[in-house]
Formats: sequence, structure tokens, C-alpha cells
Amino acid sequence: MNKKYAALGISAALTTSLLAACASTDETTSNEGSDDSNVVNVYSSRHYDVDQQLYKQFEEETGIKVNVVEGKSDELLERLSTEGENTEADLFITADAGNLYQAKEAGHLQAVDSDKLESNIPAKYRDTDNEWFGLTKRARVIVYSKDRVQPEDLSTYEALTEEQWNGKVLVRPSENMYNISLLASFIEVNGVDEAKEWAKGLVNNMARDPQGNDRDQARAVVAGEGDVAIMNTYYMGLMLNSEDEEEKKVAEQLGVFFPNQDTTGTHVNISGIAMTKASKHTENAQKLMEFMSEPEAQEKFAGVNYEYPVNESVEPNELLQSWGEFKEQDINLSVLGENQQEAIRIFNESGWK
Ligand SMILES: [Fe+2]
Repeated sequence: MNKKYAALGISAALTTSLLAACASTDETTSNEGSDDSNVVNVYSSRHYDVDQQLYKQFEEETGIKVNVVEGKSDELLERLSTEGENTEADLFITADAGNLYQAKEAGHLQAVDSDKLESNIPAKYRDTDNEWFGLTKRARVIVYSKDRVQPEDLSTYEALTEEQWNGKVLVRPSENMYNISLLASFIEVNGVDEAKEWAKGLVNNMARDPQGNDRDQARAVVAGEGDVAIMNTYYMGLMLNSEDEEEKKVAEQLGVFFPNQDTTGTHVNISGIAMTKASKHTENAQKLMEFMSEPEAQEKFAGVNYEYPVNESVEPNELLQSWGEFKEQDINLSVLGENQQEAIRIFNESGWK
């Protein structure tokens, strides 16, 4: 029955109905155990060809069939809630430790004890209870107009609240998880009071009401709406290598600056993987998790989206290397989840739309 939604993905509505059909088929043909045992079912918010290639390689190496349902992270999360213990999902792959935290808080995940995962993935990129594991890293950096800003003008996230940047800072809305996690990290490294001050100060210096996604901030800098933007590194990689000439041109006019190098470090987040609590193929699921953490998979899995591999034995791709090494915040990413509600409160208070 798993063939019905094998490698399907794309349309959430369609896959929902197909999975529902599968679930009911499952009930009526539950003695198909042998056929069903050699699979692993993945809910993933990623949509890259390279992921499919890696799953294929895993299938060839292990004989375990990988079924993937793709969708937006919040939709998949909602689906896990709706399906509860009847879910077909064994694994959940999504971006941002904040989203992984929400899956954990909702009770969708289970701990995985694996020496391989522990040695391949540094502790700071894993849940403290081993309920989720980072696979790729991204830095949330300051991107600046090469025409109007010198890198010497930049220093820290905090300095963006100074007079010099009044009316010049671009950033997306506060409801976005990347921003919630960024502020959650500031709560951790600077304390609640300073995090509040930062949010208010940044609102005060915004070039416009927050709107759009990270790429839109880059476009707005080049259009002259502001001089600097807060953005994830991989969008710069994707834009620089875009087939859309316009987008490429935008990125070429921008510089990447890693803030807080002399202080608390640049904010780094992950995309990661987790085993669902309802997983019916836990051994297969663990195998796929381990496979994704190994150097060969790491290089491909991270590289395609211009992210940094979490496995420290793997070099990031050339573009990322050209930006240089940088100091990261020294925090366990579990705190991004723990400080999430506080961060949302501060954003609301600060008037950050
Ligand atoms: Fe993103």
C-alpha cells in the first residue's frame, strides 16, 4: 500500500487524501505486515532533487523503501496533530529549531539514542532529550549594500539599533520563526531586558513596515529602500546561483556580514530531523537518520541549499568557504524553543509587525 504515495509530495491536499486512503486500506489489510515492514515514511518540508537522490541511495544500500510526503512545515505539523497515533509518518524533517521544538512540545516526537547521531552531530545542534537532531546549519546575518555600506560600518546586531541606521534596516515580520528564534537567542545570550531593548530599537530603525520574506529584504536593499537587511545565509547562496538573472544581479550587489564576532557570536539555526512518537518503523527510521548524518549525505544534503553541514568532518561548499569562518553563538539550540513564547511576547510589545 505504500506504493500509493511513494515519493509523491508536492500537493498537501492531494497527499492528505491519499494518505487517508492509505490509512483506511491499512485497516482492512493489516496482515500485509511483511510488505509494510521494509519502509520508512518521511514528512519533509524540504523539496530538493538531491533529497530524492539521497533517499534513493539509502534504498539501494539498505533495501528499505523511503516514502516521502512534502509540505509546508506548519501544514505537516498540523497533520501530525490531526493524525495522532494513526500517522504514517516515521520521520519529520523541517527547518528551524523553533519548529522542531513545537513538534516536541506537541508530543509528536520520541527520543532516539544513537551513538552514530551523537558522534556525527555536535551536542549544541541536538535536542537535550534527543528528540530532534540538526542536519544542516544556517547563519542569520547582516546583508548590506556594497555601494552604500562598508563592512567596517557594521559590528553587531545590537549596533543596528543605533542612530546611524535610522530608517535603514530591513527585516521580515515578527511572526516568522527565523526571527522568533533570533530573538529567543538574544534572550539567552543577553537577557530579557536587552532583548526587549533590541526589538524596540530595531523597530525604531526600520526602513519600512516588515513585509515579505528574506529574499524580499535583499531586493529592498538593492532598490534603495534601506541599506542593510537581516537574512539567512543560504538565501544569498540561492540568489547568487539563481537562474533568474534579476535575482542574481540583486545578490551580486550585496555583501554578507557575520555580526557579533567580538562579542556573543552570529546566530545559527538548523534544519533537522526527528522520529515521530507514533513511528511504526523505528529501526528503519533510525537508520535513515544516521545515514543523513554521515559525511557523504551531509555534503549533498547541506550543499544543495547552500547550508553548512552539522557534521564537522565535512567542509561547506566553496561559496560558503569564501565568506570565511565565523564565531557562532555559544548556545544549545534547545533554548530557541524554550524562549519562544517570551520572544513572541517581546515582539508584540515592541510593535514589530
Ligand atoms: Fe528559509
